[in-house]
Amino acid sequence: MSNMLKIRKAKSKDADAMAEILREIGWSEKRNSMPLEHVSKPIKELIDRSISDSDGHTIYVAVDENDNALGFTNVHWVPFVMLGSYEGYVSDVFVSPSASGMGAGTMLIEAVMEEGKQRDVYRLMLTNGKEKPSYKRGFYKKMGWTERPKVANFVYYYKEPWS
Ligand SMILES: CC(C)(COP(=O)(O)OP(=O)(O)OC[C@H]1O[C@@H](n2cnc3c(N)ncnc32)[C@H](O)[C@@H]1OP(=O)(O)O)[C@@H](O)C(=O)NCCC(=O)NCCS
Repeated sequence: MSNMLKIRKAKSKDADAMAEILREIGWSEKRNSMPLEHVSKPIKELIDRSISDSDGHTIYVAVDENDNALGFTNVHWVPFVMLGSYEGYVSDVFVSPSASGMGAGTMLIEAVMEEGKQRDVYRLMLTNGKEKPSYKRGFYKKMGWTERPKVANFVYYYKEPWS
């Protein structure tokens, strides 16, 4: 099945499918009760931004043989003074549960890793909930990522989290 999947950069038309994927994952009751267009509108704006500012942001989608998005990832190329270089911050990695285990997640992260290599950035970074199956199954570790033992992850919320 995985050879039927392809990775490409996201287009505006993928916004509805990406919104559907988030709803299928079901991490947020609030999001799942909103009209689809309310979920997909900000996604379309982010896709359009990734196209107009392609130096700063990349969104990849995994698509099936009909070019329908089954998964996506979103990476931001962040300039770091301390590193004297760039860090790729992967903010989202989501695959539709209906396409789970077909290799889409691996292909998406591999695409990000290859782009980081081409861009000659210092490193990639992401957060992964320790209770999530992806963490428990070592999704990132198996692809060579290192969990940082000495780094705490802090956030400062302006709005209530989705979930
Ligand atoms: C994690 C996730 C992106 C994996 O995508 P996928 O396309 O199913 O992954 P692949 O088919 O490439 O499988 C590779 C690895 O993903 C993990 N994986 C596979 N199915 C999974 C599932 N249902 N749930 C969690 N992790 C899964 C496993 O580690 C698997 O390796 P293994 O088969 O050797 O155990 C996907 O399950 C998902 O979107 N989960 C919900 C959102 C999430 O947790 N995102 C990542 C953290 S931000």
